[in-house]
Amino acid sequence: MLPPQITAMHLFSARIRRRTKAPFLLFFLSSITAGAISGGDDSSVDSSHRVGLADSRSGYESEAYRTDSKVIIEASGIRQSLHKLRDETPLGLPIVKEGASAAEIDLGRELFFDRRLSANDTLSCAMCHIPEQGFTQNELATPVGHQGKGVRRNVPSLYNVVFVKQLFLDGRESSLVEQIWSPLLAHNEMANQNRQSVMAKIAANESYAQRFETLYPEGLSERSLGWALSAYQRALLSGDSDFDRWYFANGSVSKDPYPSEAAFGFALFKEKGCSSCHQLGDNNGLFSDGGFHNTGVGYRRQQRGVQLDSVQLAPGVYVVPLVSAETETFVDNGRLEVTGHSGDRWRYRTPSLRNVAITFPYMHDGSLPTLESVVAYYAGNGSDDPLQDVRISDMTITVDEQQALVAFLRTLTSNQVDALVSDARSVVIGERGAAGL
Ligand code: HEC
Ligand code: HEC
Repeated sequence: MLPPQITAMHLFSARIRRRTKAPFLLFFLSSITAGAISGGDDSSVDSSHRVGLADSRSGYESEAYRTDSKVIIEASGIRQSLHKLRDETPLGLPIVKEGASAAEIDLGRELFFDRRLSANDTLSCAMCHIPEQGFTQNELATPVGHQGKGVRRNVPSLYNVVFVKQLFLDGRESSLVEQIWSPLLAHNEMANQNRQSVMAKIAANESYAQRFETLYPEGLSERSLGWALSAYQRALLSGDSDFDRWYFANGSVSKDPYPSEAAFGFALFKEKGCSSCHQLGDNNGLFSDGGFHNTGVGYRRQQRGVQLDSVQLAPGVYVVPLVSAETETFVDNGRLEVTGHSGDRWRYRTPSLRNVAITFPYMHDGSLPTLESVVAYYAGNGSDDPLQDVRISDMTITVDEQQALVAFLRTLTSNQVDALVSDARSVVIGERGAAGL
């Protein structure tokens, strides 16, 4: 948050400083605003808890600022045969029976990366489900959608989404084909006016229209749009982790022995009851029972309150909103919103733990930044919510055990991740100004 004495002049200066690199100006500015325009140094901005407020990074205005995000100039990845990978069933995953063709997956991939699918041609599915960031967002607790509006929940990874029976963290949707309308129409996500406007836009693009005609007997329809987008998402299969090689293939395909600390961690994972919710079977496993449980995170969020102390408008520019414009969207009751049962308040779907090391930050509100913090949260018996699952209220986990659990969780990252990221970047991103749409 900017100290109150900071005036419009200072903000203006900050902008000049970004545009010009003139040393005299830097000197001048640093002498009048020492510390002030480095708004990010303010420790009152609590980056661990930013429900709905999105970007809490700081220090953009500094020449030294570095981001892990990469500018994507052209399609630089290598196309993979995702349908073949699927048919071979990656180690550790259940079999996927139905299967989209390579051409459907290709069409879906293109749509997934097309920014023109949003109302003002800026936001693609892939900008929230970022391939290089585990098909989620690593840098934001909760995402930013249309015109900078906040979205209340952390972005779930789309790896292995084909196995998710009840979609969204509260399980309100069961079909990937129907699911697309939620982000496409949400006012704070892609903000399209209605289904018709989306259909009309895609139909106006000759290349898309033609491909839908070729692929589906009914041509382009709301349903076939859903089929195409889901074809790509269903193909994002990722198993074959170090854990899978050790556990499901008895180490027979491993180059290196499975680390003993991780093996100890897995034993603890069963012993402490983690695997009663994050379940796995004898031949394969998703580390989820698909059920909805209360881990106390919703209660904890409510106790700490939504912090509307400052909002970052532009790099280094913070304001305190006079009205809490979107406060109502920050209310999140979890599964209760779907069932209406008060006991379902703050229950969320058990997430798969596959690839969990690369899908930070964690929990439905993105409030826990690291695996260490998640395990420490369990070790501290969650929150004081009387409705919290008793399995969590009873856990005892020593510091050494916490380390071993984290070591185990880190072995769940698929060896297919690099290939899937490269495949994702084998499409040219659909932008405003390109043909059609
Ligand atoms: C503004 C960011 C944003 C955009 C754009 C976006 N998503 Fe999402 N997506 C989310 C968030 C946040 C959730 C979780 C919402 C919830 O649980 O209520 C989600 C959930 C999902 C889920 C459910 C996953 C699960 O594990 O339950 C799927 C599938 C999905 N999105 C696909 C898409 C597709 C396809 C598009 C493009 C048409 C898209 N998303 C665009 C943020 C976004
Ligand atoms: C009672 C069921 C239950 C038990 C027991 C349980 N979990 Fe969870 N776990 C969940 C649910 C539900 C969430 C999601 C909570 C949310 O979104 O707020 C979760 C979230 C997580 C996450 C974050 C994943 C992500 O993508 O956000 C990790 C890591 C995790 N659990 C590991 C563990 C470990 C390790 C244990 C044992 C010490 C454990 N869990 C015990 C149900 C459980």
